[in-house]
Amino acid sequence: NKPDTIKASQPDKAPQPKKELRSKQWYGKLDKDGFIHRSWMKNQGLPDHSFDGRPIIGICNSWSELTPCNAHLRELAEYVKRGVWEAGGVPLEFPVMSLGETQMKPTAMLFRNLMSMDVEESIRAYGMDGVVLLGGCDKTTPAQLMGAASVDLPAIVVSSGPMLNGKYRGKDIGSGTDVWKFSEAVRGGSMTLDEFMRAESGMSRSRGTCMTMGTASTMSCLTEALGMSLPENGTLPAVDARRQALAHLTGARIVSMVKEDLKPSDILTKAAFENAIRANAAIGGSTNAVVHLLALAGRVGVDLSLADWDRIGATVPCIVDLMPSGQYLMEDFHYAGGFPALLNRMAELFDMDAKTVTGATQAEICVDAECFNDEVIRPLDNPLRDNAGIAVLKGNLAPQGAIIKPSAATPALLKHTGKAVVFENIEDYKARIDTDELDVDEHSILVLKGCGPKGYPGMPEVGNMALPRKVLEKGVTDMVRISDARMSGTAFGTVVLHVSPESTIGGPLALVQSGDEITLDVETRLLQLNVTDEELASRKAAWQSQESEYHRGYAKLYIDHVMQADQGADLDFLVGKSGSVVKRESH
Ligand code: FES
Ligand code: MG
Repeated sequence: NKPDTIKASQPDKAPQPKKELRSKQWYGKLDKDGFIHRSWMKNQGLPDHSFDGRPIIGICNSWSELTPCNAHLRELAEYVKRGVWEAGGVPLEFPVMSLGETQMKPTAMLFRNLMSMDVEESIRAYGMDGVVLLGGCDKTTPAQLMGAASVDLPAIVVSSGPMLNGKYRGKDIGSGTDVWKFSEAVRGGSMTLDEFMRAESGMSRSRGTCMTMGTASTMSCLTEALGMSLPENGTLPAVDARRQALAHLTGARIVSMVKEDLKPSDILTKAAFENAIRANAAIGGSTNAVVHLLALAGRVGVDLSLADWDRIGATVPCIVDLMPSGQYLMEDFHYAGGFPALLNRMAELFDMDAKTVTGATQAEICVDAECFNDEVIRPLDNPLRDNAGIAVLKGNLAPQGAIIKPSAATPALLKHTGKAVVFENIEDYKARIDTDELDVDEHSILVLKGCGPKGYPGMPEVGNMALPRKVLEKGVTDMVRISDARMSGTAFGTVVLHVSPESTIGGPLALVQSGDEITLDVETRLLQLNVTDEELASRKAAWQSQESEYHRGYAKLYIDHVMQADQGADLDFLVGKSGSVVKRESH
């Protein structure tokens, strides 16, 4: 029931190419270079007419068995290929680095920028005219968008799709979100280790990405909001045959996009980013979207700042009732109508003239999209939360900003003053958090240092640090926590994240001592260390940086060049585009 998806993807509507195809510089040459480019490709059984001037479509595949959420993408690529062939293009699949969120140490985020470089350079170096980006697990989506945007050839996304709802003892359980709950329950004594192990198998019971509104679902929905995929790509379950059909239609559509010369820079406008920020509030999306959208904007030259998140998103209500902010899961969201139904319901809050890869505007896409379940996609006059967007905090503790996701926090803690319990790094935290000696109660504020982009390195998802056992045993489930880390999109709690500048480079966070009083006031956007300027100045004078353990390889490159979280944690030399022109031949 998505005529627009299908209409937009009709291959027979494809116009003649607007300009000479880029691939002609590889496969259209009648000299030694053309021979070399064509001849070796023919060893795959491609007939002569593959090189008669039809669009060459790259399928950028982040398939990997080490990235379980993307492990079915080779199969999905076959459906993309059907669509490309059908529309008169030639599909060529290629692998890129893959980032398994749950598998990589110290954190997949360390490698987002590296993967984006792999994507960018692979697209640039090879003779393709357009590219289909196959990804899904958290960092793979932004890395592919960032890389493709820096080349700016026509590009379109097909996501892995979420897993089926997790099941345990007859109830739905959500990726990540219930892991945090179960592990606290084991530590607090209300769940046995045996039950914990059983829940493991029920949580991830099909192919696909996390089925909560974690970072993967957030980024696939925001990809729709940005206009970079066909409608429903964000929510269709990974196992649903309609995702294969969507992959097929996407393959057909990219061929038309090449002929229309419809590039990421035509889609990824300021209006598109603003829509994505609104969408993130509406879906109760991940805090990680902040660093990813800032980094992507930097690649396409859109002026987007942390302040825009608050300005545009803060007053948008959350109407999608999904974990971790609410109770349902991605299957439910899709069956309720998915992202187009949400957009239709909130149309007056969005810029509906924003253009998409379909060639249609957002308004044209969602005009007929119905909502089939008002409990999952709630009516505007009965939202899950009002003013649900990411709040950007400022104050002497975070001069360049910090963020909090109010929709996942405890309302009573959104204004709170308490005494800091400081952990100098993650090892210090792990060593002391459950000890009897730890001077902490539920009014304390847990402060964790050393988890920023340069410090960890890679800004891991440890900001939602588990509560001290002492406090858990009282039945308390939330405390204010502050760090320069990120947190999983599946996580919840009154957690202040992305404190910039980070402690490792001497940001004020580095100067906090146990016993200091800190004030969090989300309504006035304040994050204040209640210590005098004089005292802070003398602590700063005594502060000493620590020598990095990383002296070689990518980690060194990353630490030397990564920007702070308020700038998206991209590498400084990756801001902007290289474009798609490569002048020199290889032989
Ligand atoms: Fe891959 Fe959540 S771990 S999507
Ligand atoms: Mg994650």
